[in-house]
Amino acid sequence: MIDVDDKITSLLSEKRVFEPPQAGRETAAVGDLESYEREYRRSMDDPEGYWAERARELVSWFTPWDRVLDADLSKPEVRWFDGATLNVSYNCLDRHLASGKRDKTAIIWQGEPDEEVRRFSYGQLHEEVCRCANVLKKMGVKKGDRVAVYLPMIPELAITLLACARIGAIHSVVFAGFSAVSLQNRIQDCEARILVTADAVLRAGKIIPLKPNADEALEQCESIEHCLVVRRAGYEIGMQLGRDSWWHEEMEDDAITAVCEPEPMAAEDILFILYTSGSTGKPKGVVHTTGGYLTYALHTTQWVFDLKDDDVHWCTADIGWITGHTYILYGPLGLGGTTVMFEGVPSYPGPDRFWQLVEKFKATIFYTAPTVIRALMRHGDEPLKNRDLSSLRILGSVGEPINPEAWMWYHLNVGGGRLPIVDTWWQTETGGVMISPLPYATPLKPGSATRPLPGIDAAILNEEGQLAGANEGGHLVIRRPWPGMLRGVFGDPERYRTTYFEEFPGFYDAGDGARCDEDGYFWIMGRLDDVINVSGHRLGTAEIESALVSHPRVSEAAVVGMPHPIKGQAIYAFVTLNDGVDETPELLTELRVHVRTEIGPIASPDSIQYAPGLPKTRSGKIMRRILRKIAAEDFADFGDISTLADPGVVDDLIAAKQSLN
Ligand code: WTA
Repeated sequence: MIDVDDKITSLLSEKRVFEPPQAGRETAAVGDLESYEREYRRSMDDPEGYWAERARELVSWFTPWDRVLDADLSKPEVRWFDGATLNVSYNCLDRHLASGKRDKTAIIWQGEPDEEVRRFSYGQLHEEVCRCANVLKKMGVKKGDRVAVYLPMIPELAITLLACARIGAIHSVVFAGFSAVSLQNRIQDCEARILVTADAVLRAGKIIPLKPNADEALEQCESIEHCLVVRRAGYEIGMQLGRDSWWHEEMEDDAITAVCEPEPMAAEDILFILYTSGSTGKPKGVVHTTGGYLTYALHTTQWVFDLKDDDVHWCTADIGWITGHTYILYGPLGLGGTTVMFEGVPSYPGPDRFWQLVEKFKATIFYTAPTVIRALMRHGDEPLKNRDLSSLRILGSVGEPINPEAWMWYHLNVGGGRLPIVDTWWQTETGGVMISPLPYATPLKPGSATRPLPGIDAAILNEEGQLAGANEGGHLVIRRPWPGMLRGVFGDPERYRTTYFEEFPGFYDAGDGARCDEDGYFWIMGRLDDVINVSGHRLGTAEIESALVSHPRVSEAAVVGMPHPIKGQAIYAFVTLNDGVDETPELLTELRVHVRTEIGPIASPDSIQYAPGLPKTRSGKIMRRILRKIAAEDFADFGDISTLADPGVVDDLIAAKQSLN
């Protein structure tokens, strides 16, 4: 049975259709539905021909490929553009210098303080990247080495990633909101040689120390030889002699030049690793390779965002997540566009911050998450009133299903009732957008990610693995390889296979529930595994549970998602204490702090309920379905609970929950 979240049910009755705008169609990458359909058919009839053409058009290759595709998803084995060589940093920088864009703005960086703005032309960015690449080389970094990056949204983050790509080092960004323990786990898993970090993060007017986390993490990271530290906040930190050095000193060193030849990389060489939560165990290092990822990033940036030379593209994500990798950095820069990188948050200093910045930079494309829209909706349309948003032409959404109410608010208030919203479904694993409207071609239905992009063979399968009928909920799978797909879980081929390719052999299993309506529109319902989506961030319930049970007073924990009006889902934890430990309110606070320390603030439970017993089957499996209902205060129908070892547990939990209110 597919479990449809309550918040999604309103999507089932959504019937409105919005036509794409007329203005802009002539110059759009795809200006009408027929073109989309023609391309889609072509991509299905001749996938290799289709992707070869796209790859040739979008990417500059040093040497051509021998074979477009070598794949068998049942193994799984996937190789794109084998034999070809290229360099991603060359594609994002050098080739644009050669085509007259040396002075064009590549990155507009907006610091949290409004007066702090830096604009990097392609020429300047190229120079910084080459210097940074030379610093990394001086530290002994070689092709294939891993570089961990734990930085806030400052230009050095973009520069570091492009520098890694330039010399063939593999970057692995760890979101700066993660804890020391999370950082340590990731560094250990990928055995990074270098860590790039900063003294502190500026966030909502506060200085949040970062380097102390790095220091704590590095206590147990033998692989790290150097730690390069950016001075961002002027925060006093300790530097470990022999290991740590300052970014500005290294970059300004006389021996460091701005000349660095891009390393020719094989198409299937790893470009980066990015950790993401799964349903079991520790986060997995999703592996993306050079040729396929870049092709896919450029292809989707061109099709979904229609990015043109005069656009100002603003994706509000953090580069600590895949959305930032693909749609702040590689996609826009690969196409020679102008991308905005924002250090701050939507609510500081006021709820009009985003709109003020759209006006300030005349952003034309604005891409954000439903949770942001819902949070801003609460302030009404006042913060938008005196803002000139007329530069905008395309709005986007990503990270979770967007509820029709939020969609309409976005459309009417930000889009003035005229702008298309591209609701883009994709994942860390897919590298780029998979299912999405094309802004000037696809009629929109609020809450639907609409149709798959060309080359993407998406389908819904029922529990038996058969194609589901129209509107029948099922598992979202992709039936053939695409260039941007992950090539592995770093260091764990078995996990790669079992997570994505085992349940439906020959297909990629996205782990999401969805349905496809009579018009071929996809409606994503949410995760089917034990992953919850909190404010668009993926968190494994198992990860939070293991953080809780690592506390000395906790014997057992079960974590579920509960519907939340802004975050989409909130974290609800049931905790069983060790014998003799008192259930005090102080301990609840302590447990929350403990999870923050173990994982990071984003994983801190919104609610914790003491549970002397958990609903388990006789074989010891926790019935999360029941816990989800209790967390949501939906006590009506628990279905069949006869397989529980002790059905009485359910009444106790309900009584305890009711007494909390
Ligand atoms: C969810 C983010 C509905 C989905 C790019 C997916 C979405 C997970 C959408 C991946 C959308 C992302 N509509 N659900 N438009 N976009 N999701 O890896 O459950 O952080 O599996 O990648 O977010 O999250 P991830």
